[in-house]
Amino acid sequence: MPILKISNELSGVISTFSNKISNELQDNIDILVKNNDSFSLIYKNANSILLKNNYVLIKNIGFNKDKSLFEAFIKLFGSFYGESIEYADIRIECNYTACDYNLIELHNDDMIALEKMPNYGFIQVLKEDPLKLAKNGLVKILEVVNYLKYHDAELLEDLMSVKVPMMTYGINYNDANKEWTSLNETILYYSGKNDIHVRFDLGTIDTYYWQNKLEQPRKEKKMISDFLDTCKKFRKEFYIEQGDILIHNNKTTLHDRTQTAIELNLDGSFNSREIFVGFTKDYE
Ligand SMILES: [Fe+2]
Repeated sequence: MPILKISNELSGVISTFSNKISNELQDNIDILVKNNDSFSLIYKNANSILLKNNYVLIKNIGFNKDKSLFEAFIKLFGSFYGESIEYADIRIECNYTACDYNLIELHNDDMIALEKMPNYGFIQVLKEDPLKLAKNGLVKILEVVNYLKYHDAELLEDLMSVKVPMMTYGINYNDANKEWTSLNETILYYSGKNDIHVRFDLGTIDTYYWQNKLEQPRKEKKMISDFLDTCKKFRKEFYIEQGDILIHNNKTTLHDRTQTAIELNLDGSFNSREIFVGFTKDYE
């Protein structure tokens, strides 16, 4: 399993360090984290697993619920994507994907941004699901492609050549310049180095047909359904505990989340899963 468990000794050093720098400004925290030996050690080893395995789960890192430190940690892996760390809790009243209590289907994050989509995604669980229901799933697209080569070359050919319409309102939920963005692209594509990458978010395809009041062609619907069925053969599932950080390659993997629970308190408040989400990009 691609799990990097930090020893209590190393985690203790990180914890002491994070308390010491907690009042610094973000720019200083970024520099202090970059020059810290313990963080360098974690980065070096997490990155080795990430390059080989496309995702890694880090346990017992020694900090949690510290937005600035999480941001500085992410910046060890590349240029920071977007404006800030996103906070998401599961809610009954929710109008975007991350706070939805229902399952979230396999997808890439911000895939509508095409070559400007983030290359790594980072999730830290601030608070666990009250029933420990919520699990995160990951699929390495290379495993799907290798399987299709021998079991369904025709589907692979379609996924590499048939363009599918996709549409979103803004690139992500906190996009300041909200406008309708649409594109027509294949689900699988070659990156510069002959690696196969994936861009997929069922919601964006459904939005296109819904917005344009069009019926999705049956053939396209079947291709997507067959694609998802194949992906699910290779899906690996994790339960992420409080404080754990999951890092995934957003171009070579798809990710999802199972359904969640919401606990209702006497005073009418709720108790549900809370996460921080952040990204890096591989361009300036
Ligand atoms: Fe996502």
